Amino acid sequence: MLERPSEAVLDAFAAIVGPAYALRETDTVAPYVTDPRGLFSGRTPLVLRPGSVEEVSRILRLATEMKIAVVPQGGNTGLVGGQHPDAGGTEIVLSLGRLDRIRELDLRSGVVVAEAGIILQRLRDIADAQDKLFPLSLGSQGSCQIGGNLSSNAGGTSVLAYGNARDLCLGLEVVLPTGEVFDDLRKLRKDNTGYDLKNLFIGAEGTLGVITAAVLKLFPKPRGRETIWLGVASPGDALALFEIASATAAGALTGFELMQECVVDFVIKHMHGHRPPLASAAPWHILVEISSGRSADDARGLAEEIVAAGFERGLILDGTIAESLAQTAEFWRMRESMTEAQRPEGASIKHDISVPVADIPRFIEEAARAVASVCPDARVVCFGHMGDGNLHYNATQPAGAFDASFLDLYPVMNKAVHDVVRSLSGSISAEHGIGRMKRQELLETAPPVAINLMRRLKDAVDPAGIMNPGKVV
Ligand code: MLT
Ligand code: ZN
Repeated sequence: MLERPSEAVLDAFAAIVGPAYALRETDTVAPYVTDPRGLFSGRTPLVLRPGSVEEVSRILRLATEMKIAVVPQGGNTGLVGGQHPDAGGTEIVLSLGRLDRIRELDLRSGVVVAEAGIILQRLRDIADAQDKLFPLSLGSQGSCQIGGNLSSNAGGTSVLAYGNARDLCLGLEVVLPTGEVFDDLRKLRKDNTGYDLKNLFIGAEGTLGVITAAVLKLFPKPRGRETIWLGVASPGDALALFEIASATAAGALTGFELMQECVVDFVIKHMHGHRPPLASAAPWHILVEISSGRSADDARGLAEEIVAAGFERGLILDGTIAESLAQTAEFWRMRESMTEAQRPEGASIKHDISVPVADIPRFIEEAARAVASVCPDARVVCFGHMGDGNLHYNATQPAGAFDASFLDLYPVMNKAVHDVVRSLSGSISAEHGIGRMKRQELLETAPPVAINLMRRLKDAVDPAGIMNPGKVV
């Protein structure tokens, strides 16, 4: 049973980081207890902003000793409420933003050793300045942090070629709930010495320990990059195009995003300064990225080949290859603003699902029926990382009928859509995690053996249960 911290205990925690980095006032604490979408909020008596691994270690040791809950937080961009304290006002927030040093850049080994609080965009810029690529790419990259990316095993738009955050990590430094530091900051691409412990902490959403640094892979910067925007008639045609693009570009296919027409329209209607990317309307849109390690001409050649094959087979209604860096940036800005562009359309019931890529058309068809069975007038808003089999499949409230009670349908809508996912052996959380939002559903629907194993791991690593309670398991 966890404790409510007394003033004396709060003072002891604050003394570890010093008064300037121990926040207690309601207004200074506020940004750490709410999320950007306003879906989750909580209360905390204290936000700690440690400046060293040693301070993190002392905080966790004290927390275990005193049985005080700790909620680790990176850039506070998570979408499932995993980074916030609950409403009880007893959990301490541990914000990692001050651990923001690059410890080492080892270009010969192709790695960077980065601390948890480094903002993703900064890391991408550091790699770029060395003519390298750190490929993790997300809409929130201007504020999310590496520690949070790893804790949530973030995905994004380049998973297709480079993998999730987990695949980009060779080594990890983690502070355990006991305060011990698990130093596994190794640069090895091959290491079969027992259990892969780092992978326990990646994707654990801060429920097992606090990630403080990581060895991350760098890649050669592509010499040529092309971005293609296509209009197609159906998800089935999108799948056929995906097969053409994969076969033509192979490893050079670095992005394949699917977007329903309405969400493209929302961006044009609600976000400033965007124009329709295509001359004619199409029910579905695709954004393809080709990155060639060889040359700009090679990338252009592959892009043209894909488009020509798509037209020849009658799969493309309209299409364009970006003609400038500005147009490329504009295409990606449109894709990245889709979450925000939905908001003015009213409340949305969200799903972040994955199914085998070949089942995407079937999922879209069956999920639309599932949505209609719960609320016939709800609007389906679907977009996502088709190449990874991952869709953001949202049910938005009926047009013009702004009614908060739509959100009361959340559980029944989730169940209807997730039943389709389960029937296709898919996942109910492809890239956003479990957090608070999907915990109950995970507990109710995951195989009991898996839940039992997760619980035993949790108990073994965090016997006092101080790490991010109420999240995941
Ligand atoms: C995206 O791919 O744009 C996000 O993961 C979707 C979201 O914010 O729901
Ligand atoms: Zn996404």
